[in-house]
Amino acid sequence: MKRALGILAATVALSALSGLAFASGGKDMKKGEALFKQHCASCHADGGNIVNPQKTIGKEALKAHGITDWKGIVKTMRNPGPGMTKFDTKTVPDKDAKKIAEYILKTFK
Ligand code: HEC
Repeated sequence: MKRALGILAATVALSALSGLAFASGGKDMKKGEALFKQHCASCHADGGNIVNPQKTIGKEALKAHGITDWKGIVKTMRNPGPGMTKFDTKTVPDKDAKKIAEYILKTFK
């Protein structure tokens, strides 16, 4: 009985911990999503690209163009190709840029 209680307590502690981790991750994702909607969605709604349909921001398209992590996405924001707005650190600070990038990587396949 004592042992069962111990396991129960451990389970509760663990799920509380994972709940916390999820909550903080969730907050960054929400911020990333809001920033994406504010700055990027006008051209990249739903992970597409209304200006250049070859350059969507789904995982596979990014990989095909050499972008495999959040740093690659931030680099594109700082130094975009033709037709894309440039986002400098004044418009989108590095920490926000990272949140947008992580939102993109997690959201669009
Ligand atoms: C005015 C329209 C426009 C806006 C706003 C815009 N983009 Fe783009 N984006 C483009 C175009 C056009 C390209 C293709 C450029 C090229 O040919 O290299 C592109 C390409 C990209 C790529 C590379 C895609 C690939 O498959 O190679 C990434 C990543 C990207 N944009 C991210 C963003 C992010 C993040 C934002 C918001 C902070 C944003 N874009 C805002 C038009 C836009």
